[in-house]
Amino acid sequence: MTNPKLQDRFGRRIEYVRLSVTDRCDLRCFYCIPEGFTDFETPDHWLSFDEIVRVIGIFTRLGTKRVRLTGGEPLVRKGLPELARRLAALPHLEDLSLSTNATQLSRLASPLFDAGIRRINVSLDSLNADRFAQITGGSLAKVLAGLAAAKEAGFSPIKINMVVMRGINDDEVEDILEYCIEHRFTLRFIETMPMGETGLKAQNHYIDLQEIKRRLDQKYRLIPSTMPGGGPARYARVDGTSINVGFITPISQHFCETCNRVRLSVDGTIYTCLGQDHSFPLAPLLRENVSDACLEDAIVTAISQKPERHHFVDVPGQIVRFMSQTGG
Ligand SMILES: C[S@@+](CC[C@H](N)C(=O)[O-])C[C@H]1O[C@@H](n2cnc3c(N)ncnc32)[C@H](O)[C@@H]1O
Ligand code: SF4
Repeated sequence: MTNPKLQDRFGRRIEYVRLSVTDRCDLRCFYCIPEGFTDFETPDHWLSFDEIVRVIGIFTRLGTKRVRLTGGEPLVRKGLPELARRLAALPHLEDLSLSTNATQLSRLASPLFDAGIRRINVSLDSLNADRFAQITGGSLAKVLAGLAAAKEAGFSPIKINMVVMRGINDDEVEDILEYCIEHRFTLRFIETMPMGETGLKAQNHYIDLQEIKRRLDQKYRLIPSTMPGGGPARYARVDGTSINVGFITPISQHFCETCNRVRLSVDGTIYTCLGQDHSFPLAPLLRENVSDACLEDAIVTAISQKPERHHFVDVPGQIVRFMSQTGG
């Protein structure tokens, strides 16, 4: 039974933490981090591995069952496999996963698998190298090599996340689906969100994913399905295959009523909603070396005040931080 302390005012059970281990990244996806941006958190503000393990330990004792490592790009944080190993060893944690751009997975896939991570999500917005470089500033070859290494290491499922943007990569949804069918990857399409000036600009390329779903349904029959994990995607199985396609629609069909997560940023701030400014700093408490009971109270207070829903549509410029700053 869920600990009532993990239930918010709207009856939602907050059993999932997205843990941003860095706000830095080796790519510059144009909808996420602006080119030339340098205003990252300084290392003295980062939670140390000891602090992270302590806070996540308290979350899990309260009943959190799942943690996803994210960022920024989590693989740029030195020693990530060591952190993963320590988190995977927490007795009440059932699921430790990772979101990554995969540029460094060739090197890190095996150590991360050995550390206890089993499920990974990889961002892939294009299979055309020039276009990929235009969108992200990075090398498609490195990402594909990283994905091959992840498959070889044994991660399952591997989920591909594609932010679909009109006039940028919307002509590639079928190609990426074929690639996922070939490699037995789950595919999730994501709508652009107006986070920071970058996300706001990307709204010029926004596509309602219902349109993509209808288009795919004409070529491949999509059969409604589910996938374990309790995430926001609505899934369909591609007829004649075992491949699931998910549609993450924060704008066209928000899923706030089933939101089960909070985010912990690299500087130790709890963000209770991606699309709201509500935040609760834990770092000052950690640095004053308060008791676990005091930290537990702070976490419970943060959860109890989780907002009902985001306001991306009614107040599109409200969130000035980029996705990478909160932990996407
Ligand atoms: C912030 S990234 C962090 C993890 C890793 N660097 C990656 O790219 O997968 C997490 C997810 O957020 C998505 N994202 C970033 N900015 C976004 C925006 N403005 N709208 C929609 N999705 C966004 C990315 O495409 C990615 O799938
Ligand atoms: S979406 Fe991920 S890979 Fe792209 S800039 Fe943001 S943090 Fe980096």
